[in-house]
Amino acid sequence: MLGCGSVGSQVVRLLAEQADDLAARIGAPVELVGVAVRRLDAPREVDVPATLLTTDAAALVARDDVDVVIEVIGGIEPARSLILSALEHGASVVTANKALLAEDGATLFEAAEKAGRDLYYEAAVAGAIPILRPLRESLAGDKVTRVLGIVNGTTNFILDKMDTAGSGFGDALEEAQALGYAEADPTADVEGFDAAAKAAILASLAFHSRVTAADVHREGITDVSAGDVRSAREMGSVVKLLAIAELRTDADGEEAVSVRVHPAMIPRSHPLASVREAYNAVFVESEAAGQLMFYGPGAGGSPTASAVLGDLVTVARNHRQGTRGVGESAYADRAVLPMGETRTRYHVAIDVDDRAGVLAAVAHAFAEHGVSIQTVRQEGRGNDAQLVVVSHEATDAALAATVERLRGMEIVREVTSVMRVEGAEEQ
Ligand SMILES: NC(=O)c1ccc[n+]([C@@H]2O[C@H](COP(=O)([O-])OP(=O)(O)OC[C@H]3O[C@@H](n4cnc5c(N)ncnc54)[C@H](OP(=O)(O)O)[C@@H]3O)[C@@H](O)[C@H]2O)c1
Repeated sequence: MLGCGSVGSQVVRLLAEQADDLAARIGAPVELVGVAVRRLDAPREVDVPATLLTTDAAALVARDDVDVVIEVIGGIEPARSLILSALEHGASVVTANKALLAEDGATLFEAAEKAGRDLYYEAAVAGAIPILRPLRESLAGDKVTRVLGIVNGTTNFILDKMDTAGSGFGDALEEAQALGYAEADPTADVEGFDAAAKAAILASLAFHSRVTAADVHREGITDVSAGDVRSAREMGSVVKLLAIAELRTDADGEEAVSVRVHPAMIPRSHPLASVREAYNAVFVESEAAGQLMFYGPGAGGSPTASAVLGDLVTVARNHRQGTRGVGESAYADRAVLPMGETRTRYHVAIDVDDRAGVLAAVAHAFAEHGVSIQTVRQEGRGNDAQLVVVSHEATDAALAATVERLRGMEIVREVTSVMRVEGAEEQ
């Protein structure tokens, strides 16, 4: 095993506690032969025999008696070199490393293919929730058309607090940090980097194409205001940070992958709206199966270790039988659609002068950019009025240009909230 932090220590615990059951399920005992760490004397959540600990990870993965390497160090290097070396030396690999898979999964899959070994990574997306195997195996006979995921517990906790307690972003973040749901440096979570890595992995599996983190349009939640959340509430919706991967048609009529992470309003009737606190869920739509939802704890040492152990049992069984599981499936080779061409819907709240002709002028700004309006709500406020417009689907570029135009209009005092709308049927 490489790494013995939050996840690794729980893997060590479960390996010991469930040794007999694991042996029965695999058909042979699992023996932990070494644990590579950075600091031998660091405090650990579990007792690891000193004889197993080493700082020489490179030597550990090259050992002849190692059949499976579990990588729970995280980050790009040395994790990538160690995984490649493990495969070259004939071991199968189980990893929880979303960052590495999303940045350079292709190199790892190719190495696994060349070595004829397994590379499993269920723990990399949504912690304990079985979602990669369902996409890779259970749905292999179906055509997945959309994946909508709440795949970052920290941001879901913050947005949930903003919704239920009316907190602003800063207060909700502080609460998340105090409760251990957010890191001291929350950038990877609140700016959507973590969710973007997971979106890339989900999109690759769902659409049998190579999608990397760099392909994912990413917006975090730092600009989500208490006003946005209130506005969502008023229209029976809730704001969630969504990882979205869907099949769309490009300008040439070819199927392409739209993949993005951004805050969005979803109706409270949508199954994802009920995902509270730091929980995760992934909502999958496919042609034959229809709508599926996978829900559970998306992080934490023990839940993540559960997913790691599940993979370990699978690759150990394969190893015993001299076989391997399915490798990468990227045959469809679909292009990634630029965000500007992706069709989305917008919710736009606009403070305007309360005078005749304002509604017509605002409607004209939408029409000018070819964006049709689904609903408009108007509320008078003394000399001001607020218009809340929800558009039909249009390209993201057209919607962004419409908002720019609104901001430049004399009758518009302020565009107070702009947010994409997902998960609601077009009417
Ligand atoms: N934590 C979660 O809830 C969660 C959920 C899903 C996926 N994951 C993924 O699981 C992986 C591990 O996360 P974690 O939270 O367990 O991380 P962590 O608590 O920071 O633990 C990292 C471990 O790696 C060791 N390490 C760091 N650099 C090393 C090096 N160069 N050589 C050998 N060992 C090294 C550290 O050693 P020392 O202990 O000596 O410092 C530590 O034991 C990451 O890829 C993460 O994205 C985590």
